[in-house]
Amino acid sequence: MDQPKNKRNPILIALDTPTLDEAKRIVEQTRQYAGGYKIGLELCSSEGTLPVIRAISALGGSVFLDLKFKDIPATVGNASKVVAVDGVLMFNVHCDGGMAMMSAAKKAAEESAAHIQPKVIGVTVLTSIGQQELNDEVGVPGDVESAVLRLASNAKSSGLDGVVCSPQEISALRQALGAEFLLVTPGIRPEWAAAGDQKRIMTPEQAVQAGASYIVIGRPITAPPAKIGSSEDAARFVWESVAPYL
Ligand code: C5P
Repeated sequence: MDQPKNKRNPILIALDTPTLDEAKRIVEQTRQYAGGYKIGLELCSSEGTLPVIRAISALGGSVFLDLKFKDIPATVGNASKVVAVDGVLMFNVHCDGGMAMMSAAKKAAEESAAHIQPKVIGVTVLTSIGQQELNDEVGVPGDVESAVLRLASNAKSSGLDGVVCSPQEISALRQALGAEFLLVTPGIRPEWAAAGDQKRIMTPEQAVQAGASYIVIGRPITAPPAKIGSSEDAARFVWESVAPYL
């Protein structure tokens, strides 16, 4: 099943690789079935953020820039201006940097000269932070779910377009924040893939049915099990599993 041009494609493939050559190889293999590519600290630190964005764009891919900005509002605003360029579908900031900081990022996106305005997405509580770390180390009282909901509501009030969330958070956030708010969800594993270090997972079709706007999926596509075949085959299988629910 080819990717029909009139359907939205929610599949963001995580390019967790240190070299641009490897990233480009994955893009070339999978672009027919991808809605975009998540690039992050590793690839941007090794190859440079703007060169990576340009290279992926030149191959026809759009970018979810996962650099999780957090600093004073002026600094985040200025950094956001630098990355709000053609080819960037969305970039993200930490919600706990505060509402003025989130608004500064959004303003930079709104003032961007890009042909399509990049979306700005908030990061609430990292999934590596459990209840105990949140309370005792970060110093935030209460449970993780309440903190996620509060930070996501702040993101919406600050004008952000959505948040990153785990599959288990989709329903509550969708209910609280409405149909238009983007929910970008990692922790995705097709039935045929190994869970690896991901614990609370959903399949691509479950996440889309639960209300995810985008699903972030890395190793099942970039390093698929032998029985599945190439990265292109894996991306096609993921596309075919979600397409009926779009
Ligand atoms: O290979 P895998 O599908 O597990 O990759 C998921 C991607 O999403 C990785 O880049 C990972 O860092 C990221 N991510 C995640 N869980 C979060 C936030 C980000 O897996 N809570």
